[in-house]
Amino acid sequence: VIAIDGPVAAGKTVVGRALAQRLEFRYLDTGLMYRAITWLALRDGLPIEDETALGELAETHPVRLIGQESDQVLVGEHQVGEELRGSRVSQTVSLVARVPSVRRALVHQQRVLAEEGDIVVVGRDIGTVVLPDAGLKVFLSASPERRARRRWRETQGQSQAPEFQQVLAETKARDEIDSHRADSPLMPAVDAFLLDTDELSVGQVVERILSRIRELTVAGER
Ligand code: DC
Repeated sequence: VIAIDGPVAAGKTVVGRALAQRLEFRYLDTGLMYRAITWLALRDGLPIEDETALGELAETHPVRLIGQESDQVLVGEHQVGEELRGSRVSQTVSLVARVPSVRRALVHQQRVLAEEGDIVVVGRDIGTVVLPDAGLKVFLSASPERRARRRWRETQGQSQAPEFQQVLAETKARDEIDSHRADSPLMPAVDAFLLDTDELSVGQVVERILSRIRELTVAGER
């Protein structure tokens, strides 16, 4: 099991997918699960401060990720796609992800999915809380400016593309909530392999993780 954690837009998704492909492992993006519950809560008009209702929603609507790259999402009987990455869900998801009963329901599902191994799991608390026995824990980071620049570039060409300053402010706001919440805040596991991706390409990050896996394998064989 390989756990990859880090803040918003540190490159977890693209690195995790590439790594899973190279190793022929499954890939699980746990952020999509929090996004799916957020999408459902918004669709049903649930008040985001109603923690009990959010917990019940997560409890009663298992999230299923399907497709080779687990990029199609079923929440309850609803199939959701692109809207999970839209600005409405993105702006609300940190608030839903800090609710302990929501986390409990999703963490349980994540552990079941990872049980069989041969999987790359990406999120915020994978190495610290969800799968503390993972064979390798990676923590990716990059400066807020660099991360916001990546997200901003992805939005260019969209009909209502935001200003860079707005993306930067939203990136910092989400970092703040994710890092300071009481339940499972974003932080590296004590034994995490720390990688600052500011000056690295995706390919370079993947290569460094693969070398780390080789080192650990050799050390394990000794
Ligand atoms: O990685 P992402 O942007 O898709 O994550 C969406 C939100 O979900 C983000 O605010 C952090 C939260 N999250 C979490 O709390 N724990 C995880 N394991 C994954 C995501």
